[in-house]
Amino acid sequence: MQIFKEKALLTAYLKTIWDKNCAIGFIPTMGALHQGHLSLIKKSILNNDYNVVSIFVNPTQFNNSQDLEKYPRTLERDIEKIKTVCPGCIVFAPSVDDIYEGKTNSISFNYDGIENEMEGKHRPGHFDGVGTIVKKLFEIVQPTNAYFGEKDFQQLQIVKKLVSKNNLKVNIVGCPIFREENGLAMSSRNERLSKTDREEASIIYKTLVTAKEKFGTKSAKEVTKWIENSFKKNKNITLEYFEIAEETTLKTCNRKSKNKKYRAFIAVFIDNIRLIDNISLN
Ligand code: PAJ
Repeated sequence: MQIFKEKALLTAYLKTIWDKNCAIGFIPTMGALHQGHLSLIKKSILNNDYNVVSIFVNPTQFNNSQDLEKYPRTLERDIEKIKTVCPGCIVFAPSVDDIYEGKTNSISFNYDGIENEMEGKHRPGHFDGVGTIVKKLFEIVQPTNAYFGEKDFQQLQIVKKLVSKNNLKVNIVGCPIFREENGLAMSSRNERLSKTDREEASIIYKTLVTAKEKFGTKSAKEVTKWIENSFKKNKNITLEYFEIAEETTLKTCNRKSKNKKYRAFIAVFIDNIRLIDNISLN
């Protein structure tokens, strides 16, 4: 395994690979790795000659400084986990200074309105931060394929837009959500949940599954109302939003129309910890 903590050293190494014209798979992460992240790495291994995993807690995508501060940083453990699935992996774990060179600002992007929906509404500036770091990382790594989880479905769509609008030469691969046995979507934030909160949080996925069943016969408005009412009764979980939206525009819709794909999206707080999830409705 090769571990690089500076972009100059990584690019010097990658240069020998770029010259060989091999396929490079790239998995950007913020560390605190779990099985969800590892599933992306496993997918990358299948289709690439080299695999690069970045571990970088990106300050510009946090709109809440406490959230940034509390974000788990577990580099040694992450490296051990990567070794179990990809012993030949190239790991890139740079410092904030190395990436931002003293200017920790994000670029402002236009993603045709996707950035104003859901996570964009509730986390102002978040997707500018994501776009800024993902573009920088793509420029450094120059991957053939890059792997993103559907767990952050809006982010996946944002990255696809970023690539098409900037004519970046990278193929974006979306990967399914990896879940705990009780249905809770794996997330680095789950580490901060108590054991009982973790059990309780399984209601998020159960609610999404019921929403999917209901959307067969009921309108999006009716399903949303039902979800809002059921969370009002739950004292430990606060619903931030629930939306049914079309997959590419992420605009809310009321009834299904043929040939379009829909998803239900949810964000909740448990004990001040924010969790998101989504489900395909097709
Ligand atoms: P992070 O939250 O570490 O996630 C890294 C990648 O793992 C993302 O593509 C995310 O969607 C995927 N992922 C997380 N949990 C998953 C799960 N349960 N199943 C499948 N995939 C999952 O997302 C980020 O970091 C950052 O925004 C980043 C893209 C690295 C830019 O800073």
